[in-house]
Amino acid sequence: MVVDTSLEELRKATLARFASATALDELEEARVQALGRKGTLAAISKNFGKLAPEERAHTGKLLNAVKNELEAEYERKKAAFEREALAQRLSREWIDVTLPAPGIRPGSLHPVTQIQEEIEDLFTSLGFAILDGPEVETEEHNFDALNIPPTHPARDMQDTFWLTNGHLLRTHTSPVQVRGMRKFGPPLRMIAPGRTFRNEEVDASHEHTFYQLEGMMIDRDVSVANLIYFMKTLLSGVFHRDVTVRLRPGYFPFVEPGFELDIQCLICGGSGCSVCKQSGWVELLPCGLIHPNVLRLSNIDPDEWSGFAFGLGLTRLAMMRYGIDDIRQLQGGDLRFLNQF
Ligand code: DAH
Repeated sequence: MVVDTSLEELRKATLARFASATALDELEEARVQALGRKGTLAAISKNFGKLAPEERAHTGKLLNAVKNELEAEYERKKAAFEREALAQRLSREWIDVTLPAPGIRPGSLHPVTQIQEEIEDLFTSLGFAILDGPEVETEEHNFDALNIPPTHPARDMQDTFWLTNGHLLRTHTSPVQVRGMRKFGPPLRMIAPGRTFRNEEVDASHEHTFYQLEGMMIDRDVSVANLIYFMKTLLSGVFHRDVTVRLRPGYFPFVEPGFELDIQCLICGGSGCSVCKQSGWVELLPCGLIHPNVLRLSNIDPDEWSGFAFGLGLTRLAMMRYGIDDIRQLQGGDLRFLNQF
């Protein structure tokens, strides 16, 4: 029974080493020495063959029992070390889940979009449809159909970005008038906000890309009185306060008579600044009664129908409302600027 004795010794010694191991590598070392391929248990099993056949069954069982016990004890102890290591790591890496989260940074609408949406609401309540048109336009929609023939000097008033295919970047939102008239016919109440482009020298009050809001109403017997009513409604809706306005004759080929509706500069209060070019007034709302040729060119009979149209400078309006004195800030993409709105 020499084998039995050495097995019992191995069992005791190994359990003691497992018990006293203070770290995973110590435990592992004890396991390799006892249970490894070249370990004590393997050495003992080598003598197995020398045993008398009647001893083998008994000793074989014992050998398996010791092996299983030691392996189980090893696994138990190993799991304990791993749990402890995890607990230590977690105690080092804890976070306070009760702290307020930084959260998603709230976005906001661009000031031009805010004003655009307000004006859309206003005109929707007055029975106007909101129309959209393409930014790349045909020459016909942008000029010809608006009573601006090729030789007309008014084409020089708007420095145009021409495309190589003969189309252009729309210089104003007025071509949407043409699209609206041709699609819906009279009577018609529509507005068309959108982006417009001109080959301009950029400075504090000029950008090559800016926003306008076109408006048009066609019905029977529309007069300047109707025009003024709608323009006043528009301005009081936008500014929520009294603004000083002046109406002067203005020339645009698509209206007759045409007007320039100016507002007293809200940046400087009328004393003169870079936005109003020291004049105290800002051109905001050119408008007029639709020229009979414009109606005719879109198949509307001017003897039966009349109307007014206006082209609001949305970008400029945003500047006036928020006291922005440099148009370049609006498109600069600087979040420190945009976060204020
Ligand atoms: N489209 C003109 C421009 O951008 C502005 C304008 C003037 C529009 C008079 C109108 C209008 O509808 O009646 O310079």
